[in-house]
Amino acid sequence: MNTIYFDSAVNDDVRRQRLYDGQLFVFSPRPSSIALCNHAREMIEEAFGSLDPQEAQYSLPVEEYVAIVSPLKPKFIHHPKTKQLIQDVLEESGCDLNLTYLDVPRLRMTTSGGYLTSGVGYAFHPHRDTWYSAPMCQLNWWLPIYDFESESSMAFHPRYWNEPVRNGSSSFNYYEWNSSGRKNAAQHIKNDTRKQPRPEEHVELEPQIRAVCKAGGIILFSPAHLHSTVPNTSGRTRYSIDFRTVHLDDVVTKGGAPNIDSAPTGTSLRDFMRGTDLSRLPEEAIALYEDKPSTSGVFVFQPSL
Ligand SMILES: [Fe+2]
Repeated sequence: MNTIYFDSAVNDDVRRQRLYDGQLFVFSPRPSSIALCNHAREMIEEAFGSLDPQEAQYSLPVEEYVAIVSPLKPKFIHHPKTKQLIQDVLEESGCDLNLTYLDVPRLRMTTSGGYLTSGVGYAFHPHRDTWYSAPMCQLNWWLPIYDFESESSMAFHPRYWNEPVRNGSSSFNYYEWNSSGRKNAAQHIKNDTRKQPRPEEHVELEPQIRAVCKAGGIILFSPAHLHSTVPNTSGRTRYSIDFRTVHLDDVVTKGGAPNIDSAPTGTSLRDFMRGTDLSRLPEEAIALYEDKPSTSGVFVFQPSL
């Protein structure tokens, strides 16, 4: 990894290849991404009423803050406008919507000063999404809803692009996580006991790279990068949107970033919907990513994933 492409005009095929090589892309706010962020901002501001959402943590007990943001997350995901706005972002970014599949967007909040770091405000430890059963060809799109600072950003840990980290992904199963872990996020206010894949050795967080852009900008990256939430010391709560895409060609050829240390079972591919009609990926394509049972009946990781 050696380059951050800023407002690059390369086509989607070239861009995906560079992303699979670990490069980062950052885009200035554009009409479609501004519209998506404005939509999220309206929902957030409506939920907080007279309070400034970026400052509300200073006026509310943490339980009340959680009570406001918890319903906001599913409301944003399921709002009829949300998916269309994401389709618009992909189209304006040069993706072929016939071949590009997206999952539902997440709305995240990272409060300042350790006010809320678990459950709905989970501050992500260093991880690769591929430890959580993301396919190697997944790409992550991350958009800040308000301007933010380096002190409230996310960090990439580029030395680990090529360097494996001993981690707990081999005991992570995506289907178990969906049926228990994710659903219970709102219950985790003071600490988070959900079993997540973590580094199992010391990780050097420096050198790290943080990209800072304006509200409505886009940071596009391969989530095979080791990345983490920067402990927010900016004094303001950060709100962001992220969603993921896969390209059908790369799914069927099992393309994408190199897999150096991810060994979960199950796949998140059933979450993705085609950019045109929101249909799901063909089951034959998903089957390429299912774990095959060993002769003992125990599921084993297929290294070719
Ligand atoms: Fe992540």
